[in-house]
This record gives sequence, C-alpha cells and structure tokens, in this order.
Amino acid sequence: MLQRPRRLRQSAALRLMSAETHLQASDFMAPLFCIEGENIKSEISSMPGYFRYSLDLLLKEIEELTALGCQAFLLFVKVEESLKDNTGKEALNPHGLMQQATRAIKEAFPNICLMTDVAMDPYSSFGHDGVVYQGKIDNDATLEILTEMAISHAQAGADFVAPSDMMDGRVEAIRIALDTAGFQDVGIMSYSAKYASCFYGPFRDALDSAPADSDQAPRDKKTYQMNPANAKEALREAQLDLNEGADILMVKPAMAYLDIIKSIKEISTVPVSAYHVSGEYAMIKAAAANGWLNEQEAMLESLTALKRAGADLIATYFVKQILQHLKQT
Ligand code: PBG
Repeated sequence: MLQRPRRLRQSAALRLMSAETHLQASDFMAPLFCIEGENIKSEISSMPGYFRYSLDLLLKEIEELTALGCQAFLLFVKVEESLKDNTGKEALNPHGLMQQATRAIKEAFPNICLMTDVAMDPYSSFGHDGVVYQGKIDNDATLEILTEMAISHAQAGADFVAPSDMMDGRVEAIRIALDTAGFQDVGIMSYSAKYASCFYGPFRDALDSAPADSDQAPRDKKTYQMNPANAKEALREAQLDLNEGADILMVKPAMAYLDIIKSIKEISTVPVSAYHVSGEYAMIKAAAANGWLNEQEAMLESLTALKRAGADLIATYFVKQILQHLKQT
C-alpha cells in the first residue's frame, strides 16, 4: 500500500501534529444571564451547572471567566413579569437591568468585548421578539424599538449589539441609528440564520421568555425565525446582513446546522459565529448525568466540530469547562 492514512494517527504526538482544527480561548463567547437582586446565584433547572446571577455575583463570574482567557460575553437579562408589555418599553429604560449591568460590567472590565442581546422577547408579555399587532408580528414597528434598544445599550457602554430577533431590515436600521447617534464604533453581531428551533427550550426557562399560550398572538416564532428545512435561505439572510453592515454573522443553533455554518463561512467576508444553544447543552448534560455519554468528550467533540465546520467564534454554556480544559492542556 502506498497510502496508509493510519500512519498519522498512531501516537498522540502525530495526532496533534496532524490536527486540522485547534480550539483556543479566544474562540469562545460566554452567555450571561443577569437577574435583579443581590447575592443571587440560581441554577436553571433545565441547564444543570448554568446559573442566573444578580449583578454583584455576575461580576465575580466574569472575573473568573476572564482569568480563564474569555474576552467576549453575551449579556441577557431576566425581566420581572410586571415590567413586560407588548412594546418592550422596559427595554428602553436607561436604568433597566440591561443598561445597569452593561455599565457596571464595562466599568469593572473595560477590556472585554461586551455584546448585548437586542430583542424584545424577555420584555414582551407575549414572549415575542416583535410587537404583536392584530395577531401578527409587526416587523416595521419592531424595528423602531430595536433601534432604540441598540442606542440605549450603546449609551450604557456596550461594545457590540447582538440582534437576535430575525426581523427583516434590522441590521441596516440599527447601523443607521447607531451611526446617527454617534456610535459608529459599536459593532453588530447579527443572528443571521436563526432557525425556529426546539433547542431554545431551556433558554426560555432561564429567562421565562417562551411565546405565550394566547389567542392574541402566534404560539411560535415560525413567521420570523427560519424553517429548519432551508439552507439557501440562510445564504440570503447572511448576504442581506453583510450588505446591511453586520460585523459578525451568527448561525443558531449549531450542531444540527453544520452545513449552514460551512456555507455561510464560504461566502462571508466577516467572522462567522455559531451559538451552541441551551438545548444542545442540556442534551449533553442529561445524557452524561445518566452515564450514557462522557460529558467532557461530548463537549470537546461538539465544539471541535463547530470550529471545523467554519465557526470563528462559538457561544456555548460549556464556556467555563472548555476554558478550564484549554488551560490544562
Ligand atoms: C431570543 C433568543 C433566544 C435565544 C437567544 N435569544 C430564544 C428564542 O429565540 O426564543 C436562545 C439561546 C439558547 O437557546 O441558548 N431573542
């Protein structure tokens, strides 16, 4: 035999020398869940080992993560039920939790890249990423709120805003609004190909943001998030976001969409990120808790696959575990 591919696999040294993909700390972005109160660390029951933190403890968590080499953070907040409505008014409150947390985090950690979630759902009484009007999601009315949200986050000190809503035209609207308000250096990481996925379930538990069971609004997000059956449409969305000025594109969820990550990476002139979402985390955790999978290996294999597929950046709830692993190896 002239060709023996196994030759390169026979020792750990050779396997490492011939590895095509290497994970490093700068690949990862840490999602953060902030809640009101003090001294609160509350575990999300469908995301074992992942927590919502009050701002004081969140700062400590960020400190730990930065010590492990993490420099990018995605901030989400859990909003009190009484503050929710159909217009997301609380999202624009300059003293709201998001704005407060953003200010405090950037004051304590000026060098990190803080990306704030721009979407209405944590603030929406219907659990939607848009304004509900006559039983439908009103795209253009939502854009006005998203642009105001983005400006409010920028004023609080966000480095990047991350619109996760999937309204049409929001990247351009946000870009123009930020520039007009003098925030030309605030970037946009756009959730470009975000699918209507069941894998967001645990996240909606974490923020109590699931679409409401109401006759006045759709019970799912299928009129704005993408159909999992579609791949070409993801290219269309990615191209639109590039044209509209996005600085980073995102694909979400991740593991079931490796083909999408790969094809967007091929056409993208900006970095591509993948969001290894809550349900993907929960599946590995649940299987490992049952002794059905080795958690560490399942994590490493999954995250390596995302990078191999083309993800330049990866948001994952395994962030601490992977950074600890990378530090030790
Ligand atoms: C909503 C949003 C969702 C996630 C991030 N932003 C859920 C949804 O669209 O309902 C999911 C993240 C995860 O599951 O980890 N704007």
